[in-house]
Amino acid sequence: MMQEKYLLSLAERFGTPLFVYDGDVMLERCSDLRRFITHPRLQLHYALKANFNPALLTLLKEAGCGIDAVSPGEVEYALKLGFAREKIIYTANNMTDTEFEKVFSSGVVMNIGELSRLRKAGAAHPGMTVCLRFNPDVVDGDNAKTMTGGELTKFGILLEDIDEVLSIVRRYGLKVTGLHEHTGSGIQKPESFHAAMKALMSVATRSNFPDLEFLDFGGGFKVPYKPDEKRIDYVTLGAGIADRFRAFEKEYSRELAIKFEPGKFLSAECGVLLTRVNTLKRNRKRFIAGTDSGFPQLIRPLLYGAYHQIFNLSNPEGKEEVYDVCGNICETGDRFAEQRPLPEIREGDLLAIANAGAYCYSMGGIYNMRAMPAEAVVKGGRLISFRRRESDSELIGNILDHTESCDTAL
Ligand code: LLP
Repeated sequence: MMQEKYLLSLAERFGTPLFVYDGDVMLERCSDLRRFITHPRLQLHYALKANFNPALLTLLKEAGCGIDAVSPGEVEYALKLGFAREKIIYTANNMTDTEFEKVFSSGVVMNIGELSRLRKAGAAHPGMTVCLRFNPDVVDGDNAKTMTGGELTKFGILLEDIDEVLSIVRRYGLKVTGLHEHTGSGIQKPESFHAAMKALMSVATRSNFPDLEFLDFGGGFKVPYKPDEKRIDYVTLGAGIADRFRAFEKEYSRELAIKFEPGKFLSAECGVLLTRVNTLKRNRKRFIAGTDSGFPQLIRPLLYGAYHQIFNLSNPEGKEEVYDVCGNICETGDRFAEQRPLPEIREGDLLAIANAGAYCYSMGGIYNMRAMPAEAVVKGGRLISFRRRESDSELIGNILDHTESCDTAL
């Protein structure tokens, strides 16, 4: 985590709640991954859904990363930020015809994971270039809600449907340049990467598409959230992945690119949410520390039961006490941590919620009519970007300006 004195001064300067991201941490994770997966044709596509802060994305663009986009909005945004369209891959699920046409006309490669969409794509644009998403039949991830392989998910084409895929591809003369799978977020077991790779490689061998350029193994590289959680040995895993891919290329007699789409790995650890405690109270046995943020601004604990470390920046040496760290939203589930031992919290203390760089701001909302926090990006010990918080009147204006009264026959 960033030095405490910087965080304390940013909170003074900009107020709380405030997301702070350290660009150096993100870039370091990016070079780590490149160092671990020792393959000359490795391409990283950052999963933009994890964090769409423009300054962070610009750093990743300058570091040579591409983008994994999941909606036409994300595609348009990435193009606008200057990512080359060849460096963007569009993986939607359940897309509409309008969304399909919009992205098709932007020239970004589409990754299709449903037979029905593949047929419609072929019928609309015979000969088009596509990537095909398969369900690797490997179940892994840090939460059932974000596991995307196996029988319980909606994602990807089943491995056993390969003959049908081949027939659609032939019928419409589709140009298949890529094969894709994504097992889940926060993959726990290194073996799952290998099993999923094996599954996709068997599809490549079986289909032998003449235009194949890359295999994309999605995201899912896990980072530790709990203090005692061990970091996966990515040096060994990365080397194993590269070896497996090289062996496959040899057998396949072609050189291909190997793609990954990390989200959490690149950005989770670069961010913190700073929130100030304004109210302390005791509810019989429980100590409640009430803050100026809430679950719409960082929903992972409520949605996934996720653990985020919390630091009391104002009183790091304080005597330990057990707290429920809550937000300011009108629901009991509005807790960042339950029964968490922390150095004594006093009203006015500044807390930092760690690992807030992935799937926190980007999953946020304005429930209870509170605008999302401001975002500050630092790099090399300097503030390089600041995105201010919407004021209450802007938030209200946005709602009212888009609403009109009408009296129209239906
Ligand atoms: N590629 C595809 C096709 C994906 O669906 C995802 C994540 C990724 C890559 C990136 O996965 P990552 O490397 O970040 O694990 N909101 C959840 C995570 C949802 C992930 C959705 N898809 C959370 O906060 O844990």
